[in-house]
Parts: sequence; structure tokens; C-alpha cells
Amino acid sequence: MRIAIGSDHAGYDLKEFLKVEISKRGHQVLDFGVNDKSPSDYPDYGLKVARIVSRGDADRGVLVCGTGIGMCVVANKVKRIRAALVYDLYGAIQSRRHLDANVLVLGGRMTAKELAAEILDVWLNTPFEGGRHAGRLKKIEEWEDECFRETEG
Ligand code: RB5
Repeated sequence: MRIAIGSDHAGYDLKEFLKVEISKRGHQVLDFGVNDKSPSDYPDYGLKVARIVSRGDADRGVLVCGTGIGMCVVANKVKRIRAALVYDLYGAIQSRRHLDANVLVLGGRMTAKELAAEILDVWLNTPFEGGRHAGRLKKIEEWEDECFRETEG
């Protein structure tokens, strides 16, 4: 898969670690920054990655900020993005099985590298269950379409 990745300064170390982990698993990494730990604004990088995934120019996205909360909020503003803030393995599994999450969000100040690598592994390899969950996602898409119709006018 092509995986777009991004972080702010607080997520930089974990992002760099995850780039290696993603590559090791045979996926292509598209890095949208940041490139160092100088202060930065998570919306800039969250939006870049979310837009790339939304356009289909990457299959999935991974975002990291300090808590993951800011990145999750901003990524979910983009059409067809289902970003999941994940702190444990159960969350990683369910975000794929039930939500078909296409962006994984982690907190660089919350989650140790070892656990983050396990979360990544599970998240990349767990399929969407479909069925009743597909119907629920369709309701979200219908709402998105309504919102975007209003703003695109
Ligand atoms: C940056 O200090 C911090 O606010 C940011 O990384 C993130 O945790 C926001 O949710």
C-alpha cells in the first residue's frame, strides 16, 4: 500500500520511527513532514495527509501529534476520511473492522514506540467487516455529501 504520513513537532520522533516500520512491512511511505522538531501547526500537516488519502493518491494515512487529538479532529474534516485516534490494540482492530478507518492517528506523547509498532501492524492487516457496518458508514457519507453540497454551493 501507499501510506501517507505526517506529524507536527510533538509527533516527529514517532513519525520517523513509524516510517521505518511501515517500510519494513513492504509498504511505500509518502512523507508530508514535518522535517524537524521546530514548532509547527498540526492542522497544516493533518490536512495535507487527509487530502492525499481523500483524493486516492495514497491508500491510507498515518498522523501523529502530541496527543493525536488535534490531528484526528482536523483529518475528520476532510471528505471520506475516517480517522481513528488509537491508543491500544483493541481500538486498532475495531477501527478497521467496524469503521474501515483510512487514517490512523497516534499520540507521540501518549504511546511508546513498541506499542505504536504493534498498533500499526494490526491496523494495516485487519480487514473491514462490511455488512451492518457498511450501512452505518453510508449514513456518514450521506451526511458528508449534504455538507459538501452546502459548502461547494
Ligand atoms: C502541540 O503542543 C500539541 O498541542 C499538539 O501536538 C497536539 O497534541 C494537539 O492535539
